[in-house]
Formats: sequence, structure tokens, C-alpha cells
Amino acid sequence: MGDLVTMDDLTNDEILSVLGDANRLLPVAKGTLHLPLLEGKVLANMFFENSTRTRMSFEAAMKRLGGSVLNFSSVGTSVAKGETLFDTMQMIDGYADIAAIRHPRQGAAQYSADSVEIPILNAGDGAGNHPTQTMLDLFTINNSHGSLDGLNVILVGDLRYGRTVHSLSHALVRFGASLTMVSPTSLRMPKEIVSDLRSHGAEVNEAESLQDQIPDADVIYMTRIQKERFPDEDEYAKVAGIYKLRASDLSGVKKAMIVMHPLPRVDEIDPSLDSTDHAKYFEQAFNGVPTRMALLCRSLGVEVPKKVS
Ligand code: CP
Repeated sequence: MGDLVTMDDLTNDEILSVLGDANRLLPVAKGTLHLPLLEGKVLANMFFENSTRTRMSFEAAMKRLGGSVLNFSSVGTSVAKGETLFDTMQMIDGYADIAAIRHPRQGAAQYSADSVEIPILNAGDGAGNHPTQTMLDLFTINNSHGSLDGLNVILVGDLRYGRTVHSLSHALVRFGASLTMVSPTSLRMPKEIVSDLRSHGAEVNEAESLQDQIPDADVIYMTRIQKERFPDEDEYAKVAGIYKLRASDLSGVKKAMIVMHPLPRVDEIDPSLDSTDHAKYFEQAFNGVPTRMALLCRSLGVEVPKKVS
């Protein structure tokens, strides 16, 4: 019950329940209400890869709920001396009540979950999954559109290496979304993911041009080309900067259409878009705090009160 490694670890009802908890926790996330639900609990933030949002929002979430955080990074620890992931996780099992782990190797979160007793939250495993990001993405979509049901979502950019879109596409089709996947040929969504989505009855289209897709979109989800995952710099150079969304591209869009991005952005979204009502990516990043609060409570078996005041 406590681990969250892929979105398969949550039913649709559990997803909606966590989103409800996150909504009630919003004043706590903003610091306007004190609610120490996790007092005495310790989170280990295990980051073997760079992060700004995931790491800091986990820390903010834990601290806003009265808990404390052990921060780990592969720089400045005994990983540099050759300590294995298994041995490192045995230490964390004794030091903390729960761990969020980010690791460059796909499957590392599941391996960690299998290695320890404490709950493991996957904070991104290589080009695999990023389910806590998906939960904050769903929170953002749900709060903007009033529902997760039957939306037309355009996923754009690096769909091959981008773990956020792997997890998000799985979750969205469970709520009846139609997906259009816009990428260069070399960065298409892995075939096995597309087949799996279609086997669940999802409408999935693939395209290379973004412009044609914009007018019908409820959500445009931009992603960064994941430079660090390319085996060859020349291959990256061929696709770098391939998609760029500007405010001027949005004339004629649906009024409620939102533009999302897990961030960091490089050049996929022009700053001209930031001041439009469609831009949701900074709010989306903040939403990591209430959503991760709700996920920490769920994994630690702490009930969020039905009325928070
Ligand atoms: N969205 C996201 O995972 O951002 P970070 O890499 O900064 O954690």
C-alpha cells in the first residue's frame, strides 16, 4: 500500500481521493494553516540525479506537515566510494520512515522498494516513470478543467526519454483522454507504451507537426528534450529546439486550454506565453507541494481530515 513506483500502484478512486486530500491541504501548502500531521516522521530525499522541483517540493511538503527531512545526494556521500544502491537503501531503512528516490537507472525505484521495509516514492527513474509528477499534473488538470474525464491532450517533445509523459499517458487514458503524441520520429513514444494504451481502448494519434494540433487541445503538455539521456551528442543536436510554443501560436485555441510543462524548460515555451491565462506551468510546479503532502500521508497511513481548518 505504501509504495508508489508506477501509476499502476493507484486505482482511479485512489487517485481522486489523493487529489481531494491535496485540495484540502492547499492552505497548509501555502503556509497559511498549521497542521502537523506528520510530526515525528522522517523523509529521506534520495536524489542520485539533479532536481529542483521534486526534491524541494517533497521537502516543503514534509516540513509544512511538521515532519523532517534527511537530504541525500550522490555527491558528498559514500556512493562516491562505491557503495551499492542496495547497501545505501539498507541504511535509509533504519534512518527514515519513508523515502523519495530519483535515480538515473530505470527500475531503480522498484529495486529499492523490493529492498527495504519503508515506503518508497519514485521521484523519477531514468527514462521510466515519474508518478508523483503525474499526480501533480492530474491535480493541475483537474483544478483547471473541473474534471479529468475525456480530455483532448497533446503531449509534445521528447516522448522517448521523457518519464513524465510515460506515467501521465497511462493515467490519462484511464480517465478516457484522447492523446496526440507530437515528436520527431527519433523521439516517438516507445511502441510498447503506445500498444498498451491502445489495448486499454485509448485513442492515440502520433504526429510530427504541433501547429495542426493546437486548435482542438484541452491541454498542451510540452516537454524538454532530455539531452542527458542521449547516447550521442550529434543525435541531440538534430532535434534540439525542434518545438517552441509562443503566445502568438495560441490565437483560436479553446478558452480553457492550458499549457503545461514539468520544467525545467530550455526553449520549448517562449516567455511571451508566461503572462497568458493559458500558462499553468508555474502553478503546476507549486502544486507539487499539496500533492506530495497528500501522497506522503497516504504512504504513511495518516488520514487527511475531511475538514481542514
Ligand atoms: N519536474 C521535475 O521533475 O523537475 P525537477 O527535475 O527539477 O525535479
